[in-house]
Amino acid sequence: MSALLKSFSTFLGSSIGKKLLVALTGAVLVLFLLGHMIGNLLIFAGPDAINEYGHFLQTMLHGGGVWIARIGLLVSVVVHIVLTIQLTRENRAARTERYGYNATLQASKSSRIMILSGLTILAFIIYHLLHFTVHAGNNYGTYQVILHGENVHDVYKMVIAGFSWLPASIFYIIAMLLLCSHLGHGVSSMFQTLGLATERTRPIYEKIGSAYAALILIGNCSIPIAIYVFHYGR
Ligand code: HEM
Repeated sequence: MSALLKSFSTFLGSSIGKKLLVALTGAVLVLFLLGHMIGNLLIFAGPDAINEYGHFLQTMLHGGGVWIARIGLLVSVVVHIVLTIQLTRENRAARTERYGYNATLQASKSSRIMILSGLTILAFIIYHLLHFTVHAGNNYGTYQVILHGENVHDVYKMVIAGFSWLPASIFYIIAMLLLCSHLGHGVSSMFQTLGLATERTRPIYEKIGSAYAALILIGNCSIPIAIYVFHYGR
């Protein structure tokens, strides 16, 4: 048993094992983003729909569901970032050893863009949590509404208020553009790492990656844009 555990941890410590974990945690985040976007789009169905959804998330499994999701997401984000940094360092060291110092300058452009877009997404997530979850510097947490005779958090009013400040909306849109670039490349690489891509299917996975990234971009940007146009732009 301990030999099995030892070879499993050796595998996870190897470059292939790390790549696999980056792909698997990426898949968790890809699924979360899709689910989160679909939930966010309920705003177009009116206040009751999104408030009911928010209330369901907060109360499922007696309030434990949201914590299970939070811990799962946090672990996925941390593992994804730490292993990506480790893999990039290992790649760089291997290249310097093989080709000398200058070769590090040739580090693939797309991997540098992935790191930059990834770090910007991390900054966005921190801002987003302070904005809508922790309610730092705002009173959105006090917004309440009566739904089916029960007092619940008014998520609808919070999102409208959150995007009423144009710089915040612009920041969200810029972050979504970087997220789109990260996802387009990340999703197709994920299929490759999971061993699903062949010479013939690679272009198909690239198209899936681009289509998914465009869907998330359009879906998420439609919210601040609609709020600006219909609530504040008139
Ligand atoms: C315009 C696009 C988006 C909107 C309108 C939006 C809206 C929201 C709202 C309203 C909440 C708080 C839910 C509540 O506590 O009632 C939330 C939480 C959250 N959002 Fe977003 N979101 C957007 C994009 C994103 C993106 C792109 C990511 C990830 C990269 C993300 C990650 C999260 C996370 C991790 C939480 C915390 C969940 C929790 O712990 O309660 N969101 N979002």
